Amino acid sequence: MSWHPKIVAFCCNWCAYAGADLAGISRIQYSPDIRILRVMCSGRVDPALVLKCYERGADGVMVLGCHPGDCRYIAGNEEAQRRVETTRDLMELLGIDPRRLLLEWISASEGERFANVANEFVDTITGIGPSRGDHDADH
Ligand code: FES
Repeated sequence: MSWHPKIVAFCCNWCAYAGADLAGISRIQYSPDIRILRVMCSGRVDPALVLKCYERGADGVMVLGCHPGDCRYIAGNEEAQRRVETTRDLMELLGIDPRRLLLEWISASEGERFANVANEFVDTITGIGPSRGDHDADH
């Protein structure tokens, strides 16, 4: 049986979530390895939340927010950018490959882009392998 990565996608309600919905409605295929979690703004996704995903067995996490200037809460996506950088630093300290965390901006009308970003990330994570392997390499 071939291995499939578990990917969590935190999608901003106002953009990426609608983009994912549009991909579905338009029948644009994207990987079934993606689990979508809706958040009200990408800035709400803090490091603890992302690290919890890895703890629970996720192999990759995507944070998908509104394009710069489009955040409903003014600067939530800038906050997301800062938090993702902090999270990547923590991941490195914990021995988790920082490439397992992706931040992208996807608008409500970008169904195709959502599918492309999701599929490319699944390919990247499939190439890196299971996240448990990160820890195994250290011990
Ligand atoms: Fe979408 Fe803030 S409302 S990123």
